[in-house]
Amino acid sequence: MSQPIRVLIAKAGLDGHDRGALVIAQGLRDYGFEVIYTGLRQTPEQIVATAIEEDVACIGLSSLSGAHMELFPEVARLLREQHADDILLIGGGVVPESDIPELKAAGLADVFTPGTSIAAVAEFIRKNVRISELPAPASSGPLTQRLDHIGIAVSNVAEALPFYTQTLGLSVVHEEVIEDQQVRAVFLDLGGIHLELLEPTRPESPIAKFLANKGPGLHHLAYGVEDAAKALAQAKAAGIRLIDEVPRAGGQGKKIAFVHPKDTHGVLTEFCQRVYEE
Ligand code: CO
Repeated sequence: MSQPIRVLIAKAGLDGHDRGALVIAQGLRDYGFEVIYTGLRQTPEQIVATAIEEDVACIGLSSLSGAHMELFPEVARLLREQHADDILLIGGGVVPESDIPELKAAGLADVFTPGTSIAAVAEFIRKNVRISELPAPASSGPLTQRLDHIGIAVSNVAEALPFYTQTLGLSVVHEEVIEDQQVRAVFLDLGGIHLELLEPTRPESPIAKFLANKGPGLHHLAYGVEDAAKALAQAKAAGIRLIDEVPRAGGQGKKIAFVHPKDTHGVLTEFCQRVYEE
């Protein structure tokens, strides 16, 4: 269960008008935030103390008094002094555009002028708040909790093997030609995780293409999963593009499936449903 993001709306300075601040507070509540409002005429010290006490993820400062150039940077400075500058600090109110760069340099993430929609402020907070505040993704349990193997593309297994077996001292646990992928795969044990050396058996092999483009080296990470088909469904639901729409045979009775490196931050990712022989 994810908690709502907590925001402190703080009215800094001496002006006695808080209609704008109240509108923002209510607006953010309507967008699902938990909002605490300080009330009028708060000093920077009071604002920072309340923010820390209430463990908020964001402070929204409001000022109409024209004192924002002193008050806003002072709040930023006090947050740093209290080691609380992971709290997102934003400002709003009657602030001339020309003051905004200086306020940002002083530590405000952004300053919103009248006319900014609540939706835009809500979106900014959600995008910029510290990561620990973000809601956990809705899913049917973790997709994986362990690494199964690391795939390494080699031009020639026989040439690569002495490094792994003689120099590193690893043992070969399995070797096979996987016709489906046109590769010879040699697995070495590394305390339960395997290294999978992959040599192309035909020029059309995906590994041959990888070697031609990038040369030998790290090819993929394979995460162990309970159910490869379910893992694909979970990944797809999360917006990850699939290379394999259904799992295929990966040797040793494994079911494997790849998802697209464009959606996994550059790492070709395999889900591997291993069949354990005890
Ligand atoms: Co693999």
